[in-house]
Amino acid sequence: MKSGINYSFRGKPISLALVACFLFTILLWTWESNPIAATFRSAQEWYLMPSEFPAEVPIDSTGTQKLEESEGKSSTPITKNGTNPKVNTVDSETVESIPAKSPEIQYNQDDISPSSEDCNYGKGRWVADSRRPLYSGFGCKQWLSSMWSCRMTQRPDFSFENYRWQPVNCDMPEFDSSSFLRKMQDKTIAFIGDSLGRQQFQSLMCMTTGGEENLEVQNVGWEFGLVKPRGAIRPDGWAYRFPQTNTTILYYWSASLCDLVPLNVSDKLSDVAMHLDRPPAFMRRFLDRFDVLVLNTGHHWNRGKLTANRWVMHVDGKPNEDEMIAEIPNAKNFTIYNVVSWLDLQLDSHPRLKAFFRTISPRHFYNGDWNTGGSCDNTIPFTNGAEVTQDGSTDQTIEGALKGTKIKILDITALSQLRDEAHMSRYTARGMQNSSDCLHWCLPGIPDTWNELLVAQI
Ligand SMILES: *[C@@H]1O[C@H](CO)[C@@H](O)[C@H](O)[C@H]1NC(C)=O
Ligand SMILES: *[C@@H]1O[C@H](CO)[C@@H](O)[C@H](O)[C@H]1NC(C)=O
Ligand SMILES: *[C@@H]1O[C@H](CO)[C@@H](O)[C@H](O)[C@H]1NC(C)=O
Ligand SMILES: *[C@@H]1O[C@H](CO)[C@@H](O)[C@H](O)[C@H]1NC(C)=O
Ligand SMILES: *[C@@H]1O[C@H](CO)[C@@H](O)[C@H](O)[C@H]1NC(C)=O
Repeated sequence: MKSGINYSFRGKPISLALVACFLFTILLWTWESNPIAATFRSAQEWYLMPSEFPAEVPIDSTGTQKLEESEGKSSTPITKNGTNPKVNTVDSETVESIPAKSPEIQYNQDDISPSSEDCNYGKGRWVADSRRPLYSGFGCKQWLSSMWSCRMTQRPDFSFENYRWQPVNCDMPEFDSSSFLRKMQDKTIAFIGDSLGRQQFQSLMCMTTGGEENLEVQNVGWEFGLVKPRGAIRPDGWAYRFPQTNTTILYYWSASLCDLVPLNVSDKLSDVAMHLDRPPAFMRRFLDRFDVLVLNTGHHWNRGKLTANRWVMHVDGKPNEDEMIAEIPNAKNFTIYNVVSWLDLQLDSHPRLKAFFRTISPRHFYNGDWNTGGSCDNTIPFTNGAEVTQDGSTDQTIEGALKGTKIKILDITALSQLRDEAHMSRYTARGMQNSSDCLHWCLPGIPDTWNELLVAQI
């Protein structure tokens, strides 16, 4: 789409839109100050609500995460492989647009060259866009965890929803659900990674459905063995199919991208072998079925999480004895290089597979860390600028590991770094204990942009 046409078309109704938005904002204020809003989550739910963040959700010996997650809405009864039953929707206004604080900044569209293989999508700037977000934060209850839905919290500011990313040198088409589904006809897109990967998965589900209830979407987790194990609180992942185009979107939880094998299957508290040089069994088993694969890892690579999960590093099938590798940053680097070289080799025999490695999602804890009162209270966008001018990735580990391989980089680090105001911040269950989540993002929000960049490159 030639964006020029688009822009002049959009400019005209702006004053009308502003009036509408003003009225809507008033409506919102009224709504938000209504204590009813607080009842969306019962008090009990607040306390039961653990989070994957930041200390690990302990996993049991099968590698299954244990704690209940109050996902009530998104995991509401969904027939095993049938369609999703109707879910109650909060009487919600659909947020079409909210006035952005700054006028629309635009690139000179003439500068934009046709997309090319080498286009650097991570270089560009955030621009205000009243057509964002791509789905309503009051909607998407089927797919969006309530813990990540900022519209369902007491958060009063939502200006972070109204920006889109404009790469400086690439033509990035507007995300369009039907063209995405057509492009993915008979195809499967898989996310494998930590909770940030899960945010990206939920975001893509919301973008694809437009946040609308979609009774057609089938839960096909069973095809991939993604069923809740007995005694577990939730499955290791989810898979949904859009029957119109036979498109499947899947997520599998693998925070370290290592193969995890309990050392004693009959002992729930047994240590878990963390095979640094062996990709997760799930990935090896189902790779044949993926057309697009998006990997990520990073935030679980610290001593606390390894200990809490009882992960014991293994290399070559044996407990690791190499002191160098035993250092966490080295273990992480070693694992990333291993999974990348394994996957790169697989691509020879899987020519239709498009593989991406997403760079690390930045954290924004100020005045402390996640466990020492760190916070991210800024609500003013772009206090550190709205532009990324560097050519290389900020995530040099991933960039280095991908060099010379057929795996593409999904570089979201620097552009996300500019968005410290878009995290869950203190509006989380953890906020009850005066701590903030400056790791996960509000949805709708930044992971939507990651998906736009991804879809543009598929
Ligand atoms: C539903 O799932 C079961 C396995 O749980 C499978 O045997 C059956 O074929 C599936 N039905 C449909 C309609 O896909
Ligand atoms: C759906 O897509 C899969 C590939 O993901 C393909 O194997 C299967 O034949 C397709 N089913 C139909 C009914 O077209
Ligand atoms: C495995 O765990 C079970 C249950 O705790 C225990 O009885 C058994 O001895 C363990 N096996 C090994 C080889 O340690
Ligand atoms: C990561 O591992 C690769 C491959 O072994 C090595 O070349 C690179 O220097 C390592 N990077 C760091 C930061 O340790
Ligand atoms: C949270 O902070 C407030 C004021 O900063 C303080 O009064 C309160 O005791 C704190 N609560 C907890 C659980 O630390």
